[in-house]
Amino acid sequence: MNTLLLECQDLVKLFPGVRALDGVGLRLTAGSVHALLGENGAGKSTLIKVLTGVHSPDGGTLTWCGEPVRPRSPLEAARTGIGVVHQERNLIPGFSVAENITLQKPPSRHGLVDYAAMTEPAVACLTELGVDLDPDRPVRELSVAQQQLVEIAKALYTESRVLLLDEPTASLSPEETERLFGVVRRLADRGACVVFVSHRLEEVFAVCDTVTVLRDGRSVLESSPLAEHSHDDIVSLMVGRAHAAARMRPRTVDRSAAPALELTAVATAGGHRDIGLTVRPGEIVGLYGLVGAGRSELVRAVLGLDRITAGEVRVHGRPARISSPRQALHEFGIGYVTENRKEEGVFLEQPIVRNITVTVWKRLARVLGFVPAGDEREVAQDLVDRLGIRTAGLAQHAGELSGGNQQKVSLAKWLAADTRLLIVDEPTVGVDVRTKHAFHELIWDLAHDGLPVLLISSDLGEMVTLADRVVVMADRRIRGEVDNDRDYDRMSGRIIRLIHGRDAARP
Ligand SMILES: Nc1ncnc2c1ncn2[C@@H]1O[C@H](COP(=O)(O)OP(=O)(O)OP(=O)(O)O)[C@@H](O)[C@H]1O
Ligand SMILES: [Mg+2]
Repeated sequence: MNTLLLECQDLVKLFPGVRALDGVGLRLTAGSVHALLGENGAGKSTLIKVLTGVHSPDGGTLTWCGEPVRPRSPLEAARTGIGVVHQERNLIPGFSVAENITLQKPPSRHGLVDYAAMTEPAVACLTELGVDLDPDRPVRELSVAQQQLVEIAKALYTESRVLLLDEPTASLSPEETERLFGVVRRLADRGACVVFVSHRLEEVFAVCDTVTVLRDGRSVLESSPLAEHSHDDIVSLMVGRAHAAARMRPRTVDRSAAPALELTAVATAGGHRDIGLTVRPGEIVGLYGLVGAGRSELVRAVLGLDRITAGEVRVHGRPARISSPRQALHEFGIGYVTENRKEEGVFLEQPIVRNITVTVWKRLARVLGFVPAGDEREVAQDLVDRLGIRTAGLAQHAGELSGGNQQKVSLAKWLAADTRLLIVDEPTVGVDVRTKHAFHELIWDLAHDGLPVLLISSDLGEMVTLADRVVVMADRRIRGEVDNDRDYDRMSGRIIRLIHGRDAARP
């Protein structure tokens, strides 16, 4: 029955200037799916790293099936039966899919790694996840979502009794998420315990049985049955008080204003055809579609990262042939927050202050001839405060921040820049509820002050909250657009009809 697999008590983990874990208790029992929740920086990933031997704890006890343990390395944890998918990707880019999956326990023959024997178990794990991937492909060629699935397959391969998944669904589509949940439930039915970290509470309620909530490094709710708690209770526990909804100032858009961004009959090497799109000053235009619709790719083509083969792009009224995001920023004032923030968004080895001010750098330097450290700090501190970035100080390296806080830094960077057109791709994936609202307020305020914003998001709630118009894309074509009346049910109905090729105006 409910065998206790892994238990910890009073765990403490210190980093310079931070008590990342400050008294955490957790009980993981066989046959359950356990939610590990908390705001950005609460200590979730640190806890997972202590349980898997990446960090050694500064205090507290750990037991495995009743016996004291202290995993000293990830490999040792894996051998004990603790598998993990870390929040930051951990694959070797030059290795194949099969090599990455079997890395921790490579099949061997006569003491040598047996490459031929890798493929079969690797494919079996992928098939279990419902993923069709060439096992011989190097992982560097895969999309973010595909890499995430390979990470999960890698954790399945070790047949762990405790499987820790740190935000496994952050870049998965709804279908991929569903499939992962199927696998998670099957593992639990077979007697494993799966720990699931996510900022999407709907997912948590759909798949988890028990819950632990961390706040400021402490477990404020410990291994409790999830069914005993409401959505609101959980949010209050995470943020430490009743939670207020985002406040938005009234805002109107002048639809007769000249567009800041205008695409006419654009086609791309990636297969987009006949794309027409406008964004006016002070307008938030949402670009919605299912994963694979071609939204990010379209934006990448506009910014010179992919080839435009026909049509015209005008920015602030001028024809624009952009060859790089850098040129887009310096010549056209386009700020671009990529979906792939982990790789493109943040300089992990640099202090936070430099990360945030990197895009304003030129502007400050031009005006002043040099950059006085004082100004840099002022700009950065202001954004750190507005977004509630959890840091030990501006000099801290971005790589030491929690995942969600790194995302805030990459957004702050663009907000600090003097952008005249902002393009944001999935801005709130991986950030907690409170910050999500802060982002929404911030983006709304920027539009209120006249900034044109193009918002790509797969979060329909986010679209309905922010966008003035929602442009719907499917199969690299524009299917139509919907004026946002802020009624979630009506909007989702109209958008879904457009995606499936029926006129939104007619029911
Ligand atoms: N290597 C490190 N060096 C210094 N501080 C660190 C390090 N790793 C984490 N921290 C700090 O520990 C605290 C907890 O971070 P952690 O990554 O565990 O948060 P989290 O709950 O996983 O957040 P998120 O939801 O953003 O992923 C944060 O204040 C973070 O800055
Ligand atoms: Mg984390």
